[in-house]
Amino acid sequence: MRRVVYPGSFDPITNGHLDIIKRSSEVFDEVTVGVLVNVDKKGLFDIEERVELIRKVVKPYKNVKVDSFDGLLIDFMKAKDIKVIVKGLRAFSDFEYEFQMALMNNKLDSSIETVFMMTNAKYSYLSSSSVRQVAKFGGCIKGLVPDEIISMILEKAKK
Ligand code: COA
Repeated sequence: MRRVVYPGSFDPITNGHLDIIKRSSEVFDEVTVGVLVNVDKKGLFDIEERVELIRKVVKPYKNVKVDSFDGLLIDFMKAKDIKVIVKGLRAFSDFEYEFQMALMNNKLDSSIETVFMMTNAKYSYLSSSSVRQVAKFGGCIKGLVPDEIISMILEKAKK
């Protein structure tokens, strides 16, 4: 069984993330979305809320699971018996950081592989922080995030 993890902060999940999840679920047998408690980033949603939002939007994909983790990604993977990481690449600017992370993860555990998927060009400009900012200042986030979570994001961003 080809199991993969798609890790990230997902604060909140965007249509760019969902595109990678959907395409991964077509290529691999099981996709676990791993939501990181990232101490370096100030969050809008807490970890349980992020997991809940993702579960809502991945319902159509029966081979996608959602879980949270803290600490090292490779430890989460070990616990879940997963050997492959899927990441989306949006632009050249992502490459250096992703290259470094892939090598570090492989250095920490040489049985780990990272597979990159090109982010759909439609979403190459998108990031969770830009969504948070647009929502905070009352801009339109339709098309940037799944429709069913728009109201939750706008509500949270107002606070
Ligand atoms: N569509 C839209 N946005 C995307 C995207 C896509 N396909 N791919 C990435 N992004 C956005 C994310 O939303 C994020 O935006 P933000 O900075 O505004 O929040 C940004 O691009 C960076 O994404 P990513 O590189 O996936 O970072 P992340 O913070 O979401 O996740 C982890 C990083 C969780 C994968 C990484 O920190 C990790 O594995 N941490 C665990 C610690 C560890 O094991 N470290 C050892 C390795 S160095």
